Amino acid sequence: MNQKSNSGLILLTDRILEAPLQQLIDHGLEVDLLDTPLEDPKSQERIKDAVGLITMLCDKIDKEFIAKNSHLKIINNYAVGTNNIDRDACEKAGIIVGNTPDVLTNASADLALTLLLGVTRRLNYNTAIVKEGRWKKWEPIGVLGNDLTGKTLGIYGMGRIGQAFAYKCQKAFDMNVIYYNHREKEIIKGLEATPVNESEIFSNSDVLSFHCPLTESTKGKINKENLATMKSGSFLINISRGEVHREEDILWAINEGILGGVGLDVTNPEPMTSDSPLFNHPDVLVTPHIGSGTIETRMAMTQCCVDNILQALGIK
Ligand code: DGY
Repeated sequence: MNQKSNSGLILLTDRILEAPLQQLIDHGLEVDLLDTPLEDPKSQERIKDAVGLITMLCDKIDKEFIAKNSHLKIINNYAVGTNNIDRDACEKAGIIVGNTPDVLTNASADLALTLLLGVTRRLNYNTAIVKEGRWKKWEPIGVLGNDLTGKTLGIYGMGRIGQAFAYKCQKAFDMNVIYYNHREKEIIKGLEATPVNESEIFSNSDVLSFHCPLTESTKGKINKENLATMKSGSFLINISRGEVHREEDILWAINEGILGGVGLDVTNPEPMTSDSPLFNHPDVLVTPHIGSGTIETRMAMTQCCVDNILQALGIK
């Protein structure tokens, strides 16, 4: 990185797996890393000279930012979700918004599956037993989990990741899949899934998994009112965005026995802090937003950014 050229500067807001970025340099672009936070005046100064940005899902690209940086040609989020970017403001300013769909579908679905198995087999409890030296003998009635085979999996948000996760669960555990999507969806070959309405997805699922984008309508969707309609002892997974759930309401549902376990790859707020009501709760398994976090996938995400940038700049 950081090689000089005269065809334009691409700035990154954080370090990423960088091998594919060489292609930008080979096409005459300069690539560099901002060494101050995006909102820092020093970053603003540097961005004045840039034609494109590679942003992270935690960077806030709002109207004010766009007003100051309307000279940019492309802002490419290193994520599939773009809820951190004011897309309307970008469109008005003529800035292309890119993201990294498809390449992270499998890794994200795998993480949902990891959380699902982790909560249904109560990994928090069971690994603590080993680590704290409380494993004294084989126990016929220890900390018991639940089977997945034959259970009903509800997918809220039947996009690429929701479908990939449902497919894996159906093939592995013969799960009955139902889904709710705000508009009609074509379902991938080999997956049998039944569309239901929003209230049925909450009331009929043994496992309810969230894969929707964060929008005004999905914000706070996992709340007391909806959780109260779920089956007793059901499981909840959220790998979408933390603002889709309310942490106090999830805690309430666990304490009421409605939720038997919760797997979260996203928290509200993010990162999770030690004053979160769910922090340290043994029925809650939390990962630090690592849905796309495999070497292969993160490399493919960099390649996706490169392709989008070259296309946006009319180079490829
Ligand atoms: C994304 O890319 O939007 C996902 O949240 C990654 O885990």
